[in-house]
Amino acid sequence: MQKRQVLKGLIPVALALCLPSGFAQTAPFKIGFILPMTGQSASTGRQIEAAVKLYMAQNGSTVAGRKIELIIKDDAAVADTTRRLAQELVVNDKVDVIAGFGITPTAMATAPIATQSKTPMVVTAAATSVITTASPYIVRTSFTLPQAAVSIAEWAAKNKIKRVVTLVSDYAPGIDAEKFFKSQFTAKGGQVIAEIRSPLKSPDFAPFLQKVRDEKPDAVFVFLPSGQGAAFMKQFAERGLDKSGIKLIGTGDVTDDDQLNDMGDVALGVVTSHHYSASHNTPLNKKFVAEFEAANKFRPNFMGVAGYDGMALIYKALAATKGQGGGDALIAAMKGITFESPRGMITIDPETRDVIHDMHIRKVERVGGQLYNVEFDVEKQVKDPGKAAAK
Ligand code: PHB
Repeated sequence: MQKRQVLKGLIPVALALCLPSGFAQTAPFKIGFILPMTGQSASTGRQIEAAVKLYMAQNGSTVAGRKIELIIKDDAAVADTTRRLAQELVVNDKVDVIAGFGITPTAMATAPIATQSKTPMVVTAAATSVITTASPYIVRTSFTLPQAAVSIAEWAAKNKIKRVVTLVSDYAPGIDAEKFFKSQFTAKGGQVIAEIRSPLKSPDFAPFLQKVRDEKPDAVFVFLPSGQGAAFMKQFAERGLDKSGIKLIGTGDVTDDDQLNDMGDVALGVVTSHHYSASHNTPLNKKFVAEFEAANKFRPNFMGVAGYDGMALIYKALAATKGQGGGDALIAAMKGITFESPRGMITIDPETRDVIHDMHIRKVERVGGQLYNVEFDVEKQVKDPGKAAAK
């Protein structure tokens, strides 16, 4: 009896000796997300925050012995604010990773901070091709506009669309979309007869839609950043363009799952290309959508899925470093990583640190009383065409 008690007393001591030194006082692993939680791009922040929290609820908040601490800051998509918040997160909070970045200017403004501090910067929204070249510490889980624009250009050229007007938001991702759509579409025999750009801030589409009408193209190709699709569709219908015979095609940002269900009949039949649809038919996506909707009462969109995958990427890289972390080690672990996302398989290109994934052609249809982007064609594992063009 006495002997047993002595033994019992020794067990915790023996266990403690087996543990790595410093185990008890291991610091938390801090992830600082900078997102537009207010302002014109607030739906992006709301989507990514919801998805990140879902990932943590499903996968726990400890990785390889490190407690994960999440910090979320609102930059309202103002680049000067993003830069200041990133500086504070790195210097004061000593975060291990920065993530988020709702629009391209906010990502570009932060890139030098990632480089100087050797802090991994996981871009889960902004989608201009050039972003990942701005720092060797940037890795992206969202997508690139050239990936989406090239796919829909190929589809259009194969589907009796000959004359197109492009209409894009007048800033970096819009310019990428315009340029890559045009080069692919004209290479396949199509013609871009006019190129129109609308302002990023609070656009009134009426004058641009009038110009589209006057040009009488077979189709109008549209890129607008997530959050502007519903306002655009409303004006498209108000001006009767949905009945004019001019087809609406675009990157999937315009038929964004966050707003699609409220767009109404005007959206029916719109064909777009993108890497994510909430109706993507896999068991993993069905589970993701069901749990996301149950927790949030809204549907995940492509921003949400990129936030979810950003967390998966960070968790996997931290686990690969056995909880040690460190900027260079985390980036090395992220390069070349492959895993299943709700969108399908994704890989981080080891050369460019950009995402490689399937690009789907989708058509808006009513399914079970709700509007969805129904995928009907796919180009497998597409690398960013923007990087190839820059070489
Ligand atoms: C961007 O600013 O890079 C951006 C924002 C929203 C999108 C796509 C790209 O839907």
